[in-house]
Amino acid sequence: MTKAEIGLIGLGTMGAALALNIAEKGFPIAVWNRTAEVTRRFHAQAGALADRVIPTESLAELVAAIAPPRAIILMVPAGPAVDDQIAALAPLLGPEDLVIDAGNANFHDTNRRAAAGLPMRFLGMGVSGGEEGARHGPAIMGGGARADWDRIAPVMQAIAARAEDGTPCATWMGEAGAGHFVKTVHNGIEYADMQMIAEVYGLMRDGLGMPAAAIGETFAGWNRGALKSYLVEISAAVAAASDPLTGAPMLDVILDAAGQKGTGRWTAIEAQHLAAPIPVIEAAVMARNVSARIDERKAGEARFAAAPQALELALPELEAALIAGKILCYAQGFAMIEAAGRAFGWQLDLPGIARVWRAGCIIRSAMLNNMATALAEDPSRNLALAPFFAEKLETAMPALRAVVAQGVLHGHALPALASGLGWFDMMRTGRGTANMIQAQRDFFGAHGFDRLDGRDSHHGPWAAK
Ligand code: 6PG
Repeated sequence: MTKAEIGLIGLGTMGAALALNIAEKGFPIAVWNRTAEVTRRFHAQAGALADRVIPTESLAELVAAIAPPRAIILMVPAGPAVDDQIAALAPLLGPEDLVIDAGNANFHDTNRRAAAGLPMRFLGMGVSGGEEGARHGPAIMGGGARADWDRIAPVMQAIAARAEDGTPCATWMGEAGAGHFVKTVHNGIEYADMQMIAEVYGLMRDGLGMPAAAIGETFAGWNRGALKSYLVEISAAVAAASDPLTGAPMLDVILDAAGQKGTGRWTAIEAQHLAAPIPVIEAAVMARNVSARIDERKAGEARFAAAPQALELALPELEAALIAGKILCYAQGFAMIEAAGRAFGWQLDLPGIARVWRAGCIIRSAMLNNMATALAEDPSRNLALAPFFAEKLETAMPALRAVVAQGVLHGHALPALASGLGWFDMMRTGRGTANMIQAQRDFFGAHGFDRLDGRDSHHGPWAAK
């Protein structure tokens, strides 16, 4: 029997979809799952692709089924399961065989594995697009040795989504954990984008009294303009859907407590280490945490009775506010990537990252084309200052300000939109207020300060305190 070009371990939702995608693009693939029954069922249900799938029932059988030097994709839960799988494969693989962790790994783990002197080659690869993306075209962010990526690039480019210009959305990001790092920031932006959409949804529902169907139509309309993106598109779809059990709008029967697997949190934690300001993403992580504390929120409502009041906002204002928020959030995400590149010694190609995110991934959006262009002009300049986006912000910021001001005044929770505005107002203030912080630090700790006039006097006259 022909040997497989590649192997895959872990036939959960994402692994199964990715394996079928690989087989469909013409690459024979050997698969293995911890439970043999899952492997058998997967093969039985592979339909016309079954001929290109080699089901195996032991790791040794899997390894034997793949043409050397082997490449094996791991699609197992992030964390210890990846280490366990690498350890189980170690005695079966040679130094030129390659293991590719395609889960949502913490990039520090990927760095650790890359540095561990594993007995085989190792890549960490971020894959975005959910089940549908994995099956028909995800965005792929590779990390590790360039030569190892080049070996598997033909397969990855064949299975990846394609941008409108035909470019496959599968790119090498840099050494070690660079691919998983970029995927982590992708997810941070995903959290922020989702939270801002949720906030605007809340304004329409609670401030304008719009039913879910009308909100769905509004999102659908926005998806034909500057906000065209996967997340706005699916927001229109979920708002339009009805609950098969009750006939009520689907959104109205879903519990308002958001789950999370951790990637957004990792982005926020890493941003703190890098001193990179990403307040919109941090606010989105915070909002998920608050959303999960239902009892506390109920007690808060009982005590403070803050039922949000009606608003007078026009829908185009909400649309413009979301445009502004989105630009600010992506600007913060890209600035964080730039900071990480410098801190970790990775040559992260910012316009290339914007291009990889144009199709297949959850944060794909029409704006990413312009972002790629703006970042190519000057990758180290904040995206908000690129002429194209500065102009967009000039037009849209008054709406963001009006929406946040009115929403906050009337008790609507807008943490992500408001923190975007706060960052923007700081970013455009040449003379800020940190002189007060510096004076306080000097007062209680003699930490010293620099003077505006450059004179050589670095402490205040508070010695006699
Ligand atoms: C993607 C998604 C995907 C997954 C997240 C969800 O890019 O395809 O980000 O990786 O949906 O892990 O994350 P939370 O459970 O943290 O929301």
